[in-house]
Amino acid sequence: MEKKLSREEAKKRIEWLRKEIWRHNYLYYVLNKPEISDEEYDKLMEELRRLEEQFPEFITPDSPTQRVGAPPAKEFKTVKHVKPMLSLDAARDEEEIRAFDRRVRRELGVENVEYVAEPKLDGLSVELIYEDGKYKRGSTRGDGINGEDVTENIRTIRAVPLVLRGEELPIPKMLAVRGEVIMHIDDFEKLNKELIQRGEEPLANPRNAAAGSLRRLDPKETAERPLDIFFYEIMHYEGDGIKIESQWEALQCLKKWGLKINPHVKLCKNIDEAIEYHRKMEEMREKLEYEIDGVVIKVNKFEYQEKLGIKTRSPRWAIAYKFPPRKEETQIVDIVVQVGRTGILTPVALLKPVDVKGVTVSRATLHNEDYIKEKDIRIGDWVKVARAGDVIPEVVEVIKEKRTGNEKEFKMPDKCPVCGSRVVKEGAYYRCTGGLSCPAQLKRSIAHFASKNAMDIEGLGGKTVDLLVEKGLIKRISDIYRLTKRDLLRLPRFGEKAAKNLVEAIEKSKDRGLARLIFALGIPNVGEHTARILAEKFKTIDRLMQATEAELLAINEIGPETASSIVNFFREERNRREIEELKKLGVKMEYEEEKGKLKGKVFVFTGTLKSFSREEAKELVEKEGGIVVNSVSKNVDYVVAGENPGSKYEKAKQLGLKIIGEEEFKKLLGIEEKEERKGKIMTLDEFFKA
Ligand code: IVH
Repeated sequence: MEKKLSREEAKKRIEWLRKEIWRHNYLYYVLNKPEISDEEYDKLMEELRRLEEQFPEFITPDSPTQRVGAPPAKEFKTVKHVKPMLSLDAARDEEEIRAFDRRVRRELGVENVEYVAEPKLDGLSVELIYEDGKYKRGSTRGDGINGEDVTENIRTIRAVPLVLRGEELPIPKMLAVRGEVIMHIDDFEKLNKELIQRGEEPLANPRNAAAGSLRRLDPKETAERPLDIFFYEIMHYEGDGIKIESQWEALQCLKKWGLKINPHVKLCKNIDEAIEYHRKMEEMREKLEYEIDGVVIKVNKFEYQEKLGIKTRSPRWAIAYKFPPRKEETQIVDIVVQVGRTGILTPVALLKPVDVKGVTVSRATLHNEDYIKEKDIRIGDWVKVARAGDVIPEVVEVIKEKRTGNEKEFKMPDKCPVCGSRVVKEGAYYRCTGGLSCPAQLKRSIAHFASKNAMDIEGLGGKTVDLLVEKGLIKRISDIYRLTKRDLLRLPRFGEKAAKNLVEAIEKSKDRGLARLIFALGIPNVGEHTARILAEKFKTIDRLMQATEAELLAINEIGPETASSIVNFFREERNRREIEELKKLGVKMEYEEEKGKLKGKVFVFTGTLKSFSREEAKELVEKEGGIVVNSVSKNVDYVVAGENPGSKYEKAKQLGLKIIGEEEFKKLLGIEEKEERKGKIMTLDEFFKA
């Protein structure tokens, strides 16, 4: 048995564990010299998590356990960068690099210039801000001036320290750094396999995967994606005792603060060394675990950088020396449309087979209509296809000189090539409205319909769904409710018991209520939360089916994209018919008032409450159907402020959230004074003594 710790002891142990974990993070991520095994590391994390659970008052946002706390956002806020995030001019050959060096030396009036050469990482550029050594904010590059606030998503990347190290250098009051978020090639391939297995669209390349993963509205989803980061620029710093005079020094400082830099960076005495570096890195490229598309050459001394200055969007003291892309020429024989199981139509080029660095390529994605238009891709065109460490090759360029005039323009179809339903445009994408009845989407739709948070049909998982669809027993959603034990017994793998259980589970699922049914239908953009709101608002499926876009938009939490996909979904005759069928087969579609006074309400606590511990307060909220989260965002309904509230209080004020005191909180819960707890509440100390 483990010894129960006193509050004081626990506090000390928690602090020690955190320091220890931070140290091991540094050893692992930054120095690449771990001292302990993964299992030992996990044990430390586990102990910390357990203690924090017992003593939630000691949880701080920078605790290593707090990487995923934030609730999903509806959209990203825009934030202004500390300084513009510039991009780089690119050079393709040695001559252009020598010209760059000549210009630099001429303008500086010096014989020779030192450069820092770094791999040009092919990911997504981000800005991170630390205040007094604590991670405060993270944003994407955006247009260079303003980016998207992805603070909570970046927090989930394990290589991002939540607290800077102060062992070797003073901690700056403020530090703005820039780095590149990337996904390793093997992680990318694994992710794509999983996506394909789940019936979702695979991603085009590791860069898109990194960008898409980082920009999930729900940070929990980002946390599930294996992202990594390298830091390469100090954009701004304030603080005593720190003076940084060159890019090389900047890199060393980043490393000392615990911000991982790329191990292949090199200080070059002159441009010849930088050119040699480019040659070596091009060889190295094939061995790296992540994608690089060139090297970046930067004038080392900051004094020189300042003299050289910037021109509009790019510095005059740095240049990207790109690698020749891995691409080959071939011809587009035809363009076809593939329907993913989410209903998205993806145009695909059928190619004359061509070998691109050892892989025969005969199809290449054209992504979407905008991409085709932007590159002016036509059937019959000669094109360059590239493979960027990815599974799906892409058409990167049209060789216009080779056009004969016989090329044909491509148009996206207005009917789904698989089921013939109407196709609608949603942003850059076209989507088949066939939904429930489109075979391409059928398996995924069924699996979603039966999933735990939807109709919760136990035993109707991926494999069974595949089998039922392939055997023709399920052709549309309503067929689920037509399945009989006899049907199932004819299938391989189905014994008497399994068949009976599944039939019973299907029967039970008829009673899940309107909200879950709406979610189960798989209407694009309608998640669980939205489904619940719709059920509350419209009460019956018939009312919802008649809702106009304007009516939907009038609901606070529903945006234009969601409103239009709901209307489109119900406009489709087949979907309406399916709903009628479900009704006839006995699926209940009435709204049942859900229990719980605080249903769906999101709470944050800050400061100390007099009558409850955090854990108790959390339990009470959850008992009433509410949700407790750790950080303040605009999705929060109530901020409960106890004594000595912390920074969450300030943030809540800024966001204009509803802030309530302990008394009001009790009223919300309906706790009467007399019922409140007999006698005095014990502190944890007293509790442990008792
Ligand atoms: S320095 C002024 N260094 O390349 C400083 N950029 O077109 C500009 N990138 O958007 C950035 N690796 O996302 C720098 N070692 C590196 C880089 C790097 C990748 C990306 C960055 C930027 C793009 C430049």
